[in-house]
Amino acid sequence: MAALSLRNVIKRYGVGPKANQVIHGVSAEIADHEFIVIVGPSGCGKSTLLRMVAGLEEVSAGEISIGGRVVNDLEPSERDIAMVFQNYALYPHMTVFDNMAYGLKIAKVPVPEIKTRVDKAAKILELGHLLERKPRELSGGQRQRVAMGRAIVRQPQVFLFDEPLSNLDAKLRAQTRIEIQKLHRELGITSLFVTHDQVEAMTLAQRIIVMNGGVMDQFGTPEEVYNRPATTFVASFIGSPPMNLLKHAPGVRPGQILGVRPEHLKLDQTGWTVQVEHVELLGAERLVYGRIGEEQIIMRTDAADHPPTAGDTVHISAPQESLHWFDAGSGKRTV
Ligand SMILES: Nc1ncnc2c1ncn2[C@@H]1O[C@H](COP(=O)(O)OP(=O)(O)OP(=O)(O)O)[C@@H](O)[C@H]1O
Ligand SMILES: [Mg+2]
Repeated sequence: MAALSLRNVIKRYGVGPKANQVIHGVSAEIADHEFIVIVGPSGCGKSTLLRMVAGLEEVSAGEISIGGRVVNDLEPSERDIAMVFQNYALYPHMTVFDNMAYGLKIAKVPVPEIKTRVDKAAKILELGHLLERKPRELSGGQRQRVAMGRAIVRQPQVFLFDEPLSNLDAKLRAQTRIEIQKLHRELGITSLFVTHDQVEAMTLAQRIIVMNGGVMDQFGTPEEVYNRPATTFVASFIGSPPMNLLKHAPGVRPGQILGVRPEHLKLDQTGWTVQVEHVELLGAERLVYGRIGEEQIIMRTDAADHPPTAGDTVHISAPQESLHWFDAGSGKRTV
């Protein structure tokens, strides 16, 4: 197990005037045993970052070190990492046991040692009764666990996950999230986990890296990114429905953006005037969509509260301490 550090890491694809820079100087110090989630929309550079740590992509500038050792020029096999991809790529003609054992055989690990490691991983992942099956005889979730088992038996310093749950249905995804957390508690292996799903990020991470167009907008605990988003991008990416970002509401000066989460808005006779356009019932809560002048605003209320209906005019406000202020030019948090 090891700490992992990224120092001003830059990635350019191509060379010369046609070069396209996609990672713009990312720095992060990740402690030994930490579980870090990299989250952001499609194309923001999550996989590129992970693949540079793995050694599958060259680093254009900056430094990556694992356990205090700079790995920029090391082959993937020399980095002591194990990676789990979205596409598990199990060998179809091999049994579960052989799939998990394959990497160790190649590395010439002695046979009794292989058996010990595979059995231990199978026990942790509850795959013991499936070791003789072929991948086609497994469910999606079981295949995913075999892919994890293949990574575990390597006993790496660092686990790298690239959207490993995205082929699973919602229920299985939630279940596997819990299994991954359990696994991390048991093994304590430093992990970097990539996803575009903010719920996955919030529930799995000890700390989250939020990527925005190749830039790390924020690196913090789930509470920090939710309660004190560093930019309007983070504010709108983390949380569903997203934080309201208002430029023209009463009290907002030019050059400012006011952020307020839907759950912090309450009916209040002295507050802003809102034209209600649409109301959605989501079981325990209701989402009220409306407008303050030209700007759209979403409020989340308890389903039991007396709801406004489309066409109503209501008044709402939020407590002072729940307001977020951003610079309209840079998008950065000011208060
Ligand atoms: N081999 C490549 N050559 C040129 N550009 C690339 C290459 N691989 C990725 N890119 C570009 O780098 C940027 C980041 O890609 P990356 O795959 O890291 O995104 P991502 O955040 O993982 O997205 P997704 O959620 O869709 O997987 C994108 O603009 C992509 O087009
Ligand atoms: Mg990707």
